[in-house]
This record gives sequence, structure tokens and C-alpha cells, in this order.
Amino acid sequence: MDKLLLVDDEKDVQYSFRRIFSSPDVELTTADSGEEALKLIPKVKPDLVLMDVRMGGITGLETLRRLRQLDSKLPVIMMTAYGTTQTAIEAMKYGAYDYLLKPFDVPKLKEVVFAALKAAHDMQQVVSYQPLLESEDYEVGVVGRSETMQRVFKLIGQLAASDATALITGESGTGKELVARAIYHHSLRSTKPFLAINCAAIPENLLESELFGHEKGAFTGATAQRIGKFEQCNGGTIFLDEIGDMSLPTQTKILRVLQNGSFERVGGNSPVKVDVRVIAATNKPLEKAVAAREFREDLFYRLNVVRIQIPALRERRDDIRLLVNYFLQKFARSQKQLPKSISSEVITEFESYHWPGNVRELENVIQRSIVIAKGDAILKGDIPSEICTGRVVPTNAAPVAPVPLSESESPVSSIPSSGSSPIPLAPSDLVSMAGLLFQWARKDSKLKIIPTVERELIIHALAETKGNQVQAAKLLGITRATLRKRVDKFGIKQLLSIT
Ligand SMILES: Nc1ncnc2c1ncn2[C@@H]1O[C@H](COP(=O)(O)OP(=O)(O)OP(=O)(O)O)[C@@H](O)[C@H]1O
Ligand SMILES: [Mg+2]
Repeated sequence: MDKLLLVDDEKDVQYSFRRIFSSPDVELTTADSGEEALKLIPKVKPDLVLMDVRMGGITGLETLRRLRQLDSKLPVIMMTAYGTTQTAIEAMKYGAYDYLLKPFDVPKLKEVVFAALKAAHDMQQVVSYQPLLESEDYEVGVVGRSETMQRVFKLIGQLAASDATALITGESGTGKELVARAIYHHSLRSTKPFLAINCAAIPENLLESELFGHEKGAFTGATAQRIGKFEQCNGGTIFLDEIGDMSLPTQTKILRVLQNGSFERVGGNSPVKVDVRVIAATNKPLEKAVAAREFREDLFYRLNVVRIQIPALRERRDDIRLLVNYFLQKFARSQKQLPKSISSEVITEFESYHWPGNVRELENVIQRSIVIAKGDAILKGDIPSEICTGRVVPTNAAPVAPVPLSESESPVSSIPSSGSSPIPLAPSDLVSMAGLLFQWARKDSKLKIIPTVERELIIHALAETKGNQVQAAKLLGITRATLRKRVDKFGIKQLLSIT
């Protein structure tokens, strides 16, 4: 349940917010003034505050200033009418998370709200990196007892005690972001903000302005000044995910921030000073990118001061059992059910599989299998068949070496979903697959081919998108409403995330 606090003296705005955020997963509280908000915050403990700049009584800006003395991390989104953006910019300097212009563009409003909630979640959910004891397995933690993970834990501890820049590398789904959050939570900056930016997800021409902000008129569409993530995160920690995808000009700016703690906004001349700790991550072999002159060598050395290389799951098979237990408990807790058990036959299959999507793939497989399993235990028939057919080593054999990416191969930036095929598919393959399915339907009409396939596709999409309905619907080319109806029909509501 996400708790939002809306601070606005206009009843119309309160009414629209109630409509926009009417969901069982969101609890909206309203305050008519800054004074009331300051009283409510310790009681309500909101995850996010949305606050009007202009109100009767103390202003939004003054409320924010006082609020920051109570809590330096709680994300606050300031809302302002066109023409008063300057105040919103001021608010950003006081540590607002973002600002929105009135009248609201509802999709944009939702996007900003959900991004802020994710940031709040990342900041609040402490990630422990000490190897967990059996009884604590349900805590949010970086799970692993293998020797290679012990080395990772040691480095996290050392990094947490210092303010050094760190580079986290490893294949997709190995837990790079989780490790970054563990460093943050144990660092001296843990009471300050933590912001994660996925450099690969933001179009190249927007990334620089996203990170460093821009001045009014810096480019077409820059109708007002904007504060970037580095300024927003002053005093805190910034996590630059997929840094290998950053363009050379942006890399140059990052290097300057690391060297001098200053930068210029896009289209600006005066340097802005910040104190931000940078943790970067990539699944690309950066050494190769340096050799190909796609990544600045000086930036690479600057980031590489402390390097945490997270091993692929297939290189630490002794952690699989522990991770399986951890995920069974985690999902059971989120569904308020008793954890399912798992047959040893399934564990054996898991220990023999090569896990191209690493821990994320294992997590998705467990989540999906919990839904599929009819009884209290997950059996071999409940897991995707690829896990069994895709085995690369016989049971108990030595782990296989990771397959290095060839020069021409582009690294995976998105993870194949649970047990997805490594074979590239063409649209024509779909036609032949449908033909095959139809043959089955003809043989056995009890099979109910359409709902069966539909259910499987929805489970895959929800597993891939961690239960995000909008993204899952988009993946499948259906509307969110249709997805929602099918989810209800198939009784798989537990796969939905809180959106
Ligand atoms: N050691 C671990 N213990 C528990 N959960 C883990 C561990 N490693 C990864 N996970 C889980 O696996 C999922 C993927 O982890 P994360 O997002 O940190 O991977 P990543 O390396 O950043 O992947 P990508 O390169 O695709 O961004 C997350 O849900 C995370 O919580
Ligand atoms: Mg990541």
C-alpha cells in the first residue's frame, strides 16, 4: 500500500486526485495547508508528498524547508501553475524530488508519482548484505553464501565505510542494483537521498538534461529551466545504471563531476557545485568499449577505483538452493500465505540449468511456479520445460564457465523472461507455432487452447514486468483493462504489483 499525502487548499484538486488515485493499493490523505501537513506527516508516515507551492498560511516552500528538518529523504513533488516555475526550481534546491505544472497532464502526473514512489521504496527498504541466517531469509538482502559472494559482501562493507566511487559489473540479473542499494544503506549517506538512473532507458539526447538539468531555451522544447538528477540528489548517492550505454559527451560531464564536483546545466554557463557519491553499473565489458573508443578511458579508471564483479548464477550453483528458499518465503509473505515447498527433483533441475538471466530469471521462475503449482509443493511439471531441456551440465557436474560475449555480440540489456528461448524468433515462427497449437486443439477440444495460451502469456508478461500491468499489457499488445479482466478471470491477481 502506497501512502500519498496531498497538500493543496483547492478542493477541486483534492477531488481530482481522489479520482486519479482511486486504487485499493493507494491511500490518499489530504491536507489543506502546510501547517496541517507538518502535523499529519509524523502520524500518516506518507511515502510521498504532493504539495502546492502557493497556499494560504505558510507557503509550500517554507513547508518543504521545515519538512526537511524532520525527514531528509521523504520525496516531495511540488505543484505549481504555469508562470510560477521559478518557485518550483527554488523548491528543487530545498530538496524537492520533482515538480509538476498545473493543469496536470494525468499520464505525466502518474509517471512522476510512480517514479517517486519507486525512489522512496529504494531509499526506505534497507538491503542487508551480511549473509543471512536461515531464520532471517525473508529479509531484503543480497543472498548468497558461496565464496565468490562472500568476496562481494566484503567489498560492499569496505565501500559502505568510504565515500569512494564504485563500479559494479556482472551479467544481467546478477543483482547489481541490489548491491548498489546495499552499499547506500550501509553508507554514511544513508539518511540522504538515493536516486537510480537507467542510462540505457533514457534517449541519448535527453539523458544529459535528465542528469544535469537545462536552462530555459537550451533546446527546442526547453520552455523552462529544469533541475537535473545531480542537483536533486545533492548530498546523496546517485546510481548510474547501464553506464556503458552513455554517450561520449555525457561521459565527459560525468568525469568532470567526479573530478571537481561541478557541472553546467545544458545551455548554461555557470558551474553548479554538488556533493554526490556515484555508484555505476554495467553489464557491458567496459574494457572492450574503451578499446573501441566508445567509452572514455579516463572515466573508466576513475570509476574502476573499486570494482565489484558479481558472478553469474551458473558460477555459484551452491547459492541456488538458498535463493530458492529466499524467494519462496518472499512471495509467500507478499501474498500472506504459507510458503510452498519445492521437490528435490526441481532443485536438481535448477542446479543443472545455465540461468542466462541469472537471479532475476530464477526469481521469475519461482514466482510463476507458485502460481502454476496446484498443491503445496512445486513439482517438476510446474516449472518451464526449458529449465529441464536447457540443461547444460549433468547434475552435480562442475559448473560451466560463463560464455564470454563475442566482439560482435551486443550485450543483453533486457532479460529473457523465465525460461525464454535463446533462439531469435521471426513473425513467421508465430504462424507455425499457431498451426501446431491448432493441431492440439483439434485433437483435444477439452484443452481450451485460447484461454490456456492466454493465461500462460499473461503469466510470462507479468513475471517479466514484475507485475506491472501497464508494461505487461503493452508487451502483449492489449489494453490494461483487458489484461485486468483476464487476470481476474484466471485468478492470478497475486502476480500484480502495486500500481
Ligand atoms: N543475491 C541476491 N539475493 C537476492 N535477490 C537477488 C540477488 N541478486 C539478484 N536478486 C534479485 O534479482 C533481481 C535482479 O536483480 P538486479 O536488478 O539487482 O540485477 P541487475 O544486475 O541490476 O540486472 P540488469 O543488468 O538487468 O539491470 C531483483 O529482483 C533482485 O532483488
Ligand atoms: Mg540493473
